[in-house]
Formats: sequence, structure tokens, C-alpha cells
Amino acid sequence: MGIQITPSILNADLAALGAEVARIPHADWVHVDVMDNHFVPNLTLGLPVVESLLKHTELPLDAHLMIEDPDRWAPAYAEVGCGSVTFHVEAAKAPVRLAREIRAQGARASMALKPATPIEPYEALLPELDMLLIMTVEPGFGGQKFLDLCLPKISSARAMMDRHGVETWLQIDGGVSMETIERCAEAGADVFVAGSAVYSAQDPDRMVRDLKAKAEAAAAR
Ligand code: DX5
Ligand code: ZN
Repeated sequence: MGIQITPSILNADLAALGAEVARIPHADWVHVDVMDNHFVPNLTLGLPVVESLLKHTELPLDAHLMIEDPDRWAPAYAEVGCGSVTFHVEAAKAPVRLAREIRAQGARASMALKPATPIEPYEALLPELDMLLIMTVEPGFGGQKFLDLCLPKISSARAMMDRHGVETWLQIDGGVSMETIERCAEAGADVFVAGSAVYSAQDPDRMVRDLKAKAEAAAAR
């Protein structure tokens, strides 16, 4: 599949989501951060807003659910038409069952790990997942500093995926910028969320293309 960029709308103008998404035509996905003020100390948006946004863009939606009880809420995001649905393993009661339910609703199933959550206990789950999200900041807010301490986990995850011969994508979220994207690509990430880097740029779509070119060059080394 190659390198993909999925801009996060968290730092866009949330009262003008349709117009904000139209500013990034070269994005591969649109990353939508759903926060419930329980799993993380912030509250953003939920299913009704996601359903509206789906009517305003041709780009597939990449829903990142930072919520308690994803077992109950996540399948509905697949059902309404999100192309990818990510739940946090720290919140899921039955991650395998949940991943299967998401796939059964026609979306890609993805599981996220916070910075302090190790990947090793979940190695056997990789074949159940279409994507693994390794957070490179503590989830909850855009604009935080990239945590270099997550890089070894990215490399370990990539090595595990190679070992299992799975096609699981490896996504990175938090603090991704022109300064940090190369080391993530070198470590083996292939799907990059970028919020403030894209939406604080003068030309967000140009930034999407620049980030992609930089990651592609680093991955090819
Ligand atoms: C943080 C969210 C991220 C955030 C990324 O909890 O999951 O998607 O919007 O924003 P930046 O790229 O600014 O770190
Ligand atoms: Zn996110």
C-alpha cells in the first residue's frame, strides 16, 4: 500500500468541518478523533457528527475512538460508513471479538496502544487487525511534542508483523511533523496521522504532499 497520510481534523475549525476537509484533497484518509471525557480528559464529537461529515467528503474516514467501552460503541462507526475504526486496547474488554465485529460491519479493524502500553502481549492478535496504531503522545490533545521513547516500539511492531507475514498497517499518531516523520518511517510506520502540522500550515494540502514525500524517501533508505 505504501505510505499514507491521514490528517487529523482535531486542530481544524470544528464548526466548518466540510470546508476544512475540502482543503486536503491529497490526503489518503481523514482522521477523526472521538473523545468521551472519560478515557481521555477531553470531549470532541461522536457518531452524529461523523455521519454528517461522511456526506461532505469522498475521502474515507479513519475514526480513532478514545472512549470507554468501545465494545459497545465502536461497531456503529463501521456501520455508518467509516472505512477504518480504531479502538484502544486499554479500554476494550474483548479486543478479538470487537475487531471481528468491526470487520463484519465492513470496515478495517484497528487497535491502538498508548505510549506506556507494550506491544508484546498482543502479538497473537495481529492477524485479527488491519492496522495497529502506536500513539506517539498521550492521547487527548493535538499539538503535543512527539515522544521519541515510542520509536523502539514501532520497530518491534514492524519486526513482529514481518515475522507473522501479515499485511497489517502500522499507524503513528501524535506530534508527527516534517521534523519527526522521517524517524517514524525509518522505524517502519506506514500510516501517519498529522493534526497541527497540517492544519497550522499555510497550505494544508501542500503539507500533506510534503509529509508523504519525506516519509517515502525515508522508507526507501
Ligand atoms: C491526540 C489525537 C491525535 C491528534 C494529533 O490524542 O489522537 O490524532 O489530533 O495531533 P498532532 O498531530 O497535532 O499531534
Ligand atoms: Zn488520533
